[in-house]
Amino acid sequence: MQGSANLNIMIKAARRAGRSLVKDFREVENLQATMKGPGDFVSKADLAAEAMLKEDLMGARPSYGWLAEEGGGEDGEDPTRRWIVDPLDGTTNFLHGMPHWAVSIALEHKGEIVAGVVFDAAKDEMFYAEKGKGAWMNNSQRLRVSSRAKMIEAVFATGVPFGGGANLPTVLQDLARLMPQCAGVRRWGVASLDLAYVAAGRFDGYWERGIQPWDMAAGLVIAREAGGFVMPLHEGRGIFEGRGVIACNDPLSKQFVETIRNVDTSAPKTFP
Ligand code: IPD
Repeated sequence: MQGSANLNIMIKAARRAGRSLVKDFREVENLQATMKGPGDFVSKADLAAEAMLKEDLMGARPSYGWLAEEGGGEDGEDPTRRWIVDPLDGTTNFLHGMPHWAVSIALEHKGEIVAGVVFDAAKDEMFYAEKGKGAWMNNSQRLRVSSRAKMIEAVFATGVPFGGGANLPTVLQDLARLMPQCAGVRRWGVASLDLAYVAAGRFDGYWERGIQPWDMAAGLVIAREAGGFVMPLHEGRGIFEGRGVIACNDPLSKQFVETIRNVDTSAPKTFP
């Protein structure tokens, strides 16, 4: 795919931050991590990666706004555009030496995510998409959501907020409804990769309650551009506003959405 200048900036920035994280990951046992809240960690690896991303992305586009997991938000001169960044999605996996984590970068324009990059540096898988141009992996592999149409053959992913949180009872109800109908549910702890895996047809669907914009922004456009059905989890609220998302392939969408929302599928589809 012929990417825009912005997409090229994002991919280059993700590679640089990813390389730095891979170096830290090799010596992860020496990294000091601080607990920001129950189950919510930050380490020098996250902070160094975020600083690099800020340098590269804001250096290239100084007028854009900025929203990132560690540093929070800043308005830019251009109120219509902002970077939404998670330097290390899957911090807990990273700190436990599990090679499943990612750098996530999204570009928002007028409230819509128009480009996204999710880089799984440990496996060297670069997922990316731009609005209207499809979703891709590495140099030229086009991504498509799965075509699986039977719930009983489908594998889904979800996430659970830090320490369970207020959403835990609802998540358990989701699982109780969904698990008997499907082939399996995974909770791998990296929302951006869960969405990228829906795009790649590895997962048939994903949902999460209580999720932050930086965890999902890039993955949303990748899943959508791969032909995914992406919608807010909470009726009447956008994905970011309601902090909840559902993404899946088209054939399973009706049954999956009805199971998770426990309602019919006629609700409006706003994005994000
Ligand atoms: C977390 C992961 C996880 C999701 C949590 C996120 P972090 O992000 O994306 O899958 O369930 O809600 O906070 O803290 O590892 O960047």
